[in-house]
Amino acid sequence: MDWGMQNRLAGIIKPESGRCVMLAVDHGYFQGPTTGLEKPGETVAPLLRYADSLMLTRGVLRNCIDAAGRTPIVLRVSGGTSVLKDDLSSEDLTVSVEDAIRLNASAMAISVFVGSDNEKKTLKNLSRLCDDGQKYGIPTLAVTAVGKQMVRDARYLGLASRIAAELGAQIVKTYYCDDFDKIVNGCPVPVVIAGGKKIEERDALKLAFDAVSAGAAGVDMGRNIFQSRWPVQMIQAVRSIVHEGQSDAHAWDAFCAATDQPTAVAR
Ligand code: R5P
Repeated sequence: MDWGMQNRLAGIIKPESGRCVMLAVDHGYFQGPTTGLEKPGETVAPLLRYADSLMLTRGVLRNCIDAAGRTPIVLRVSGGTSVLKDDLSSEDLTVSVEDAIRLNASAMAISVFVGSDNEKKTLKNLSRLCDDGQKYGIPTLAVTAVGKQMVRDARYLGLASRIAAELGAQIVKTYYCDDFDKIVNGCPVPVVIAGGKKIEERDALKLAFDAVSAGAAGVDMGRNIFQSRWPVQMIQAVRSIVHEGQSDAHAWDAFCAATDQPTAVAR
């Protein structure tokens, strides 16, 4: 792997542990206004010191994020659909590699929709992005987006993850499911999990713990951090699981202590 690619990857996934905490705030690219992201700059400011990288669109990066910051950027470069349509799978590349370079992106993120009507189109988008990334030493993160008709199981997510890696993605982001170790074992590049819809903090910590226990490199988590009433304590708790090897129970106890909640009740 060439030096630039290696260097950028090392900013996202810690080479000493192979682990990462990515903070995802790119939701507006297809859903527009998102609870908790009304003012993205204000939302992420207190969280950035606990995030190894920040995943977002170029619009939010340019307009809301301090250019003097040091957090590596994972730039969302696919889109072109909105929640107003039933089918979100018809994505294209929306950012040139030149603009990603101008924005000093450490990685480019793209969704693929395996099994959808746009499977081929989105996989070709991924291949093209990997070619561009390879040319300039920028890693590609492939998100295995799941259409409404797909089942989020290890067979499907394992298939989509493996295809993404085969086509050249350096990191795969997918969803946690039972038998998650099968996905990780069948994928030759690091796998991170999305957090998904907001759930109880205790459950989100268990999700993070189960994922890394099954071999995930870490999380690329959004709503379960920034939609929490306690986003800073939440990202700290997730970080303790991913980077310090804490159990979800321990992280939960620390979270409850930090947020002044009785653990027994909140559990
Ligand atoms: C979805 O495709 C977006 O890329 C989000 O960044 C991703 O789903 C992670 O965010 P969350 O943890 O809120 O699911």
